[in-house]
Amino acid sequence: MKTLVASEIESYAQAHSMPESDVARTLREETQRTMEYAQMLVGPLEGAFLKMMAQLVGAKRVLEIGMFTGYSALCFAEAIPGDGRVVTCEIDESSAALGRKHFANSLHGKKIEIRLGPALETMRELAGPFDVIFIDADKINYLNYYHRALDLLSPTGVILIDNVLWDGDVLKQPPPDEKTAAIQELNRTVAGDPRVTAVLVTIRDGVLVIREKASV
Ligand SMILES: C[S@@+](CC[C@H](N)C(=O)[O-])C[C@H]1O[C@@H](n2cnc3c(N)ncnc32)[C@H](O)[C@@H]1O
Repeated sequence: MKTLVASEIESYAQAHSMPESDVARTLREETQRTMEYAQMLVGPLEGAFLKMMAQLVGAKRVLEIGMFTGYSALCFAEAIPGDGRVVTCEIDESSAALGRKHFANSLHGKKIEIRLGPALETMRELAGPFDVIFIDADKINYLNYYHRALDLLSPTGVILIDNVLWDGDVLKQPPPDEKTAAIQELNRTVAGDPRVTAVLVTIRDGVLVIREKASV
């Protein structure tokens, strides 16, 4: 799992945060056993943070960009009411299939709608408002996702963007590759966007928490 925090600190923080559900743990363990790049899933501590954010804004509708095997989608589903909805976008059918299998074992699984295909196209088709929009895929398009997310966000909603510290590479000038450059551009754009307020939280690989100014 990606983290910039010392592993003992990460474990301590995790032990003193809300625990993951049994289904989330089983899904995570199977992902770690069977999938390449299992470190992509957010894990128990960031999962708890996402749940807390959803609960704080009283979320009913959540949009996720980047489902992978569904760990974070399940966290969101567990945090919203019975008539809530998590729409999660994923391009890889085999990753989604693993999630689907585990969602069937959760009381909350029926709240999750999987949209297969390129997320930017899906976002263009979707109508808002969403109370939480979690962006965690395809770093090159981060800025495009951010702009579309602002159109889809409810006035009291929150946008959460993952991996905005990119393993510390955001400090490098010039950026070593396209993905780092895209994340640096996103962070600069959000920090200078007069429509929003944001805080870059140093949890795991960095999460940018953004809301519209009018809602404060
Ligand atoms: C970092 S992982 C998501 C992890 C997930 N949020 C979790 O915590 O379990 C990113 C996922 O985005 C998917 N992805 C990449 N490009 C995409 C695109 N253009 N549209 C939709 N999904 C995409 C990848 O297949 C991968 O499964």
